[in-house]
Amino acid sequence: MNSPRAYPDIFELPDHGLLLRSPAKVNLSLRVVRKRDDGYHDLETVFQELDWYDEIEMYPSDDFSLTLKGARLDSGENNLITRAARALAQFTEAPCFVRIHLRKNLPLQGGVGGGSSNAALTLLGLARLWNLHVSLDQLTSIASALGADCPFFLHGGLARATGRGDLIQPLSGAVKGVFLVVIPDFGVSTADVFSNWKVRLTEVEQNVIFNPLSGWGEGEESPPFSYCNDLENIAFELFPVLRNVRDCLLEQGGRSALLSGSGSSVFAIFHSDDLARAAAHKVEESFGFRTHVCRGVARSR
Ligand code: C5P
Repeated sequence: MNSPRAYPDIFELPDHGLLLRSPAKVNLSLRVVRKRDDGYHDLETVFQELDWYDEIEMYPSDDFSLTLKGARLDSGENNLITRAARALAQFTEAPCFVRIHLRKNLPLQGGVGGGSSNAALTLLGLARLWNLHVSLDQLTSIASALGADCPFFLHGGLARATGRGDLIQPLSGAVKGVFLVVIPDFGVSTADVFSNWKVRLTEVEQNVIFNPLSGWGEGEESPPFSYCNDLENIAFELFPVLRNVRDCLLEQGGRSALLSGSGSSVFAIFHSDDLARAAAHKVEESFGFRTHVCRGVARSR
């Protein structure tokens, strides 16, 4: 078995450029613990990086530019890549000079963290391109202001998270099996889903994910937590077709079929590529949605 590689995947290009692979994630488990005074929610979640990527190229320049291909997405000041670059430049008092090109493969508003991933990888790439002396703690505080999922993408691999999802404890290993991600032809607003959350976990239910995780060995087939997502029923009520997709994945032999994050993507884990591809075919035929087959990535810790 190959040993886990360091995070992130970063390659040198001619003309002092850098290429970064900006990965997707799924939430293997997501429990909402409580609503906070700042309007956010405290979570207990387990993130898993997938080998499914956007690509970010960056080159030294004497001004700032962002171009992108593969999605209808604002490339102006609201883009999370631009916001990440500006925030890092402001924090370090570096001039915000870079030419960035994004090739977008990951879905927008899909619950796989594409925007947060792009922002975090921009921070990691620019820290190197601009030769900055900035600590992981400093990058984490910039990342967490950009989005609650963003700090996870400074670590990748497998990780547990608490707080708003921004307090990260990296874990070694990766969940085994073949992931099939179903990408509906609509996105879901994270804020809309959270605003419909009402139920409160009891004290007894809290920590159901994490206490057992501490005893989990890397070689074990299944992690010792149940695959569950407290946002799933809310998203299923807003978009009933998502429940049908989940049921279809279960019927096709997927274990632990689940909404990822706040949706709209739904994923399941299969024992083989053949099973995952057969399920992909069935979902595409029944719902007309795109699918993506991939694996969980382990990172050296
Ligand atoms: O941090 P991010 O911009 O990704 O979050 C989008 C929205 O999702 C927030 O404005 C908030 O309404 C909701 N959210 C939440 N609790 C979290 C994460 C997100 O309420 N832990």
